[in-house]
Amino acid sequence: MSTSNQPSPEDRTLHRQWFVACLAGELRSRPFSRTVLGTPIVLFRGQGKIVALLDRCPHRNVPLSAGKVIGDCVQCPYHGWQFDSTGACVHRPGVIDAAPQPIAVTEFPVVEQGGQVWINLDPGATHSPPSRPWHADPAFGHFHWIDSVEATFADAIENLLDGTHTPFVHSGLVRSASQQQRFSAIVRVKPDYVEAEYLNEGKQSGWISQLFERDRAASYGRFVPPCVAELEYTSQRGTEFVLNAHFTPESPTRLRVYSTVSLRKTLVPMFLKRLLVTPLFRRVLNQDRHILEQQQANIHRFGQAEYTSWDADLLRGFIDHWLRTGILPVMDEERRVEFEL
Ligand code: FES
Ligand SMILES: [Fe+2]
Repeated sequence: MSTSNQPSPEDRTLHRQWFVACLAGELRSRPFSRTVLGTPIVLFRGQGKIVALLDRCPHRNVPLSAGKVIGDCVQCPYHGWQFDSTGACVHRPGVIDAAPQPIAVTEFPVVEQGGQVWINLDPGATHSPPSRPWHADPAFGHFHWIDSVEATFADAIENLLDGTHTPFVHSGLVRSASQQQRFSAIVRVKPDYVEAEYLNEGKQSGWISQLFERDRAASYGRFVPPCVAELEYTSQRGTEFVLNAHFTPESPTRLRVYSTVSLRKTLVPMFLKRLLVTPLFRRVLNQDRHILEQQQANIHRFGQAEYTSWDADLLRGFIDHWLRTGILPVMDEERRVEFEL
């Protein structure tokens, strides 16, 4: 995203997309404020419907998120103007027979899906948020958590999908630097995503794998536009574990991250798995946050970013291409890369 006044191609792409604004469970009886791509939003549950409006009262600029929900409306805390679920001002207390004025705040499209509330800053958006097959599959249990990180959109998505940092940033947890392994990666573009399939990995040497994985058949890292980085691990019986990290840019260098973990249901109850998995993944994500924030601080120190990519950087080119154009590039053939790591 650019910081100048002229929107960059990346800005133009992002401003047409769906992002996760919050978890459905975060929306209670009070209005709720979130920033998406620099735009302050107020979210609230009207009667039977989630509403997203620009978080600024047109009367005197007060945040509507500081007000109250009354029926289907949000009420401004300053002079009590009320705005309905379309953003129209439907009540202004104080003057009898005031001349009618067509006053409204911008309303944004919202969709509740997979326990998340999705928003699009393009009021005319006609497509829908991306959906992944596991989220509606009764064979899987899910849990969510929320994080934030100082990083650019592309750097953060790349980080989650990049396997080559794991021996260094997550030494011992995901893969150990002292036990090298050979494996293959195949990169392919599908209509809705680009993926790297990792083959011949066997069981990983890190202790997350030792604890939670059956023998691994293949794993996948996917960028699912507009905002999902997905890791899928399969065993001989199929998908075992999926992490979907949904990245929502608040600003060019600050992201909120809404992660959904989907685990195949087994005899071990979900709450127990959650109890075991959460501290480990918190640790991994904290390590990623730390390196991403070092990267971002150094880009800031130098005033600009410079990148030198090579064969191991499997998906970054696709993420950058999508950001510039809004579409994934066509790839005539799969690409295979052999790793020793
Ligand atoms: S500032 Fe909102 S009603 Fe006056
Ligand atoms: Fe990582």
